[in-house]
Amino acid sequence: MTNTSAREIQSDTERMNRISNKYGYFDRQAREFVITRPDTPLPWVNYITNGKYSGLVSHTGGGYSFFISPRDCRISRWRYNSLPQDRPGRYLYLRDRQTGAFWSPTWQPTPSVPLTSFQCRHGMNYTAITTLAYGIEARITYFVTRENMEVWMVRIRETEGRSRSLDVYSFVELALGHALVDLINQPNDKHFNDVRYLGDSQILMATKRYWVTFNSATVKQANQSWRHWAFMASTLPVAGFDGSRDRFIGPWRSEENPIAVEQGVSFNTEITAGDAIASLRSSLELPAHGEKEFCIFMGVVPREGEGKASDEKAGTAAAEIVERFRIPGRIGEEFRKLVSMRDDYLSSFQIEAPDPEMNLFINFWNQYQTKTTYQFSRDASYHHGGLLFGRGYRDSCQDALGPLFAKPGWVKERIGEMAGKQFQDGSVYHCYYPLTGGGERTGHSDTPLWLPMIVIAYLKETGDFSILEEIIPFVDGGEASLLEHIERAAGFIKSKTNEQNLVYIGPGDWNDTLDYCGREGKGISSLNSFIYAFVLREMAGLHRILESDRAVEYQNLYDAVKASCNQHLWDGKWYIRAINDLGEKIGSLSSEEGKIFINAQSWAVISGVAEGERAARCMDSALEMCSTPKGLKILHPPYTRVDPHIGLATRCVPGKKENGAVFNHAFSWAILALLILKRAEKAHTLYHQALPIHPSVDIDRYEVEPYVYSEYVTSPDHPSFGQASHSWLTGSSVWMLRNTTDYLLGIRPEYNGLLMDPCIPSDWKEFSVTRRYRGDLYNITFRNPGGGNGRVISVILDGDALEGNLIPPCGDGKPHEVIVILGN
Ligand code: GLC
Repeated sequence: MTNTSAREIQSDTERMNRISNKYGYFDRQAREFVITRPDTPLPWVNYITNGKYSGLVSHTGGGYSFFISPRDCRISRWRYNSLPQDRPGRYLYLRDRQTGAFWSPTWQPTPSVPLTSFQCRHGMNYTAITTLAYGIEARITYFVTRENMEVWMVRIRETEGRSRSLDVYSFVELALGHALVDLINQPNDKHFNDVRYLGDSQILMATKRYWVTFNSATVKQANQSWRHWAFMASTLPVAGFDGSRDRFIGPWRSEENPIAVEQGVSFNTEITAGDAIASLRSSLELPAHGEKEFCIFMGVVPREGEGKASDEKAGTAAAEIVERFRIPGRIGEEFRKLVSMRDDYLSSFQIEAPDPEMNLFINFWNQYQTKTTYQFSRDASYHHGGLLFGRGYRDSCQDALGPLFAKPGWVKERIGEMAGKQFQDGSVYHCYYPLTGGGERTGHSDTPLWLPMIVIAYLKETGDFSILEEIIPFVDGGEASLLEHIERAAGFIKSKTNEQNLVYIGPGDWNDTLDYCGREGKGISSLNSFIYAFVLREMAGLHRILESDRAVEYQNLYDAVKASCNQHLWDGKWYIRAINDLGEKIGSLSSEEGKIFINAQSWAVISGVAEGERAARCMDSALEMCSTPKGLKILHPPYTRVDPHIGLATRCVPGKKENGAVFNHAFSWAILALLILKRAEKAHTLYHQALPIHPSVDIDRYEVEPYVYSEYVTSPDHPSFGQASHSWLTGSSVWMLRNTTDYLLGIRPEYNGLLMDPCIPSDWKEFSVTRRYRGDLYNITFRNPGGGNGRVISVILDGDALEGNLIPPCGDGKPHEVIVILGN
């Protein structure tokens, strides 16, 4: 890294502070976002996870937990559409035994209790909320251990100089199984709940004697119990417990005033039917200015079979885990491991650029968000309920580009999983269900193409060509090497092209809402055609490396598709977006609405279909017509009339979602196209515009978390202009990251090494990057004395000048020093 002076760091920090908003700020040192008041426009959330046991945590203690699948294996409840919003959660109640006053140290669910202070720190897979009320400061840190157990690590401090006697209650509402069934069939589903208290080990255990796992609403369900027991335990001696929500809360009450807490009792309820909760009560004596620490644990253990022996086995398994963590100091150790895992993850790519916002996002938040999209796809957020379609194939493939430099092993695993969801003909499940298996085949003709794309990206990153020989089964029988799987993906799309080599749109392409353009099998998608071209070009490149004859075949096909796209899809000033079954052009000069779509322009460039004048022209058209103060709209002008031959996009209100919002995923591809065209200043400006901390963001309008990208920002075409939605789980995260690392900073993995090819603003005089590549760490300093946009003059590796701008993999496991001199 460059030696940044104390002054620079100071001004960097000042700039960070300036971009903080009235609800919080970034603590760069701690790698946390700090929320300083609880009344944010919406809940601002975070993820806790060990990769299997996961939960969402809002800054006021809301959220839910699940094991692998948020739909099929939901542990705790969260009420969609709830008023007050964001209920329930992982709540702790503190009750002063002398006065009877009680409150929740996370603000919710007791918002009428005035807090003297509030702070929430969201970090990578942990959240710490600290509040002061009635002279008691309480800090709860939520995180998950490797044992499939979440921890609420609590520290309580007396601040007024008088001794206090407190009751401490934990509380969660349990779903125990299928979350959608819990919502739509709760009056029946609750008859299978079973909550027991194990007095010897002081653990509350809960399960369900029925588990719906078939995907459709059918009476033909498996004859099975939920395959887990949830447990809750405390490191404090347990004085009472409750498993019945009705008893604990009491009639006509809510989480705000549970009767048990109000009365300072527990009813010691175990249930065999009814709405289940887990609540433990303990007593705590706090001397004046005294401090106490304790933990609440909640987790899952497997349920194997039925009957007493099986129940006892689960109880023993839970007790065994809990005992290990009841040892003082153990949990602190576990938390420190989590922090060092974070640092290890991030160490693969760190930058120091004269751009503090980019430093902040690339060094931490953007990497964290892509790790999260890798882990959760679009399956579990406050916007994706985790109840419907499971995971999207195309999303899961793209998300895999995120952890590629930090965790190539994860990507290898994902590739195996995705190849295993392919059918013999090369088609794939469009969406699939983790844990319970299966999926849905829809006929989208972009979906299969994302597999070759990640396989090739993996090869360029790792050089691990042995993966191509791995034998992976097809969904419908038989098996083949991974190489064959990706050939079949490309082959399947070939079978979905018309006589002009253009790809049919079928029930939709990347844009899910162009869903009625091509159901009769005649409509074509230019985006699919460009993505297909891109994959053909990449396949040709791969076969050249493999020295196989197929390279020529792919190259010829690429050339034919490219020529045809340019012949049939060019519309004078830009590329059209699609042709529907009626033969009508969509996204054309001649269209009344939806005249231009940015994806068609971006992908024409990304795929190499558009070159020279045409490439410049189509991107200029996109910039001219789709620019807003928040970035580029997905299309312009938005549809105001429903068109049944286009579909859902035209049913959505103008300015939102795929009907003309700044849809960040599409926006990120436009930035990529500009970077490919070496339009550095524009790309950099748009990169900043996309950041949720751009100075133009009015956070009260924006509403969602400022530390992660959201799916879309409402365009000026709607009165709620500037409002964002679907934060966290969006494909834009991975592309914003890789655009910046690979094309803007310009450190791009190729088959034979790491290419240095930046595209930077001319006022960047120097920047540096630390990047892990094939096991080695490269400390790369870029010098730009002449103020150009990144043209490489020379590359010096460990003191020796290289020919060209490709650093061959050193492969000795040592750190390497690279200096790249840039010119005009
Ligand atoms: C959502 C979907 C993604 C789709 C996009 C555009 O982000 O998860 O699969 O490509 O919307 O419709």
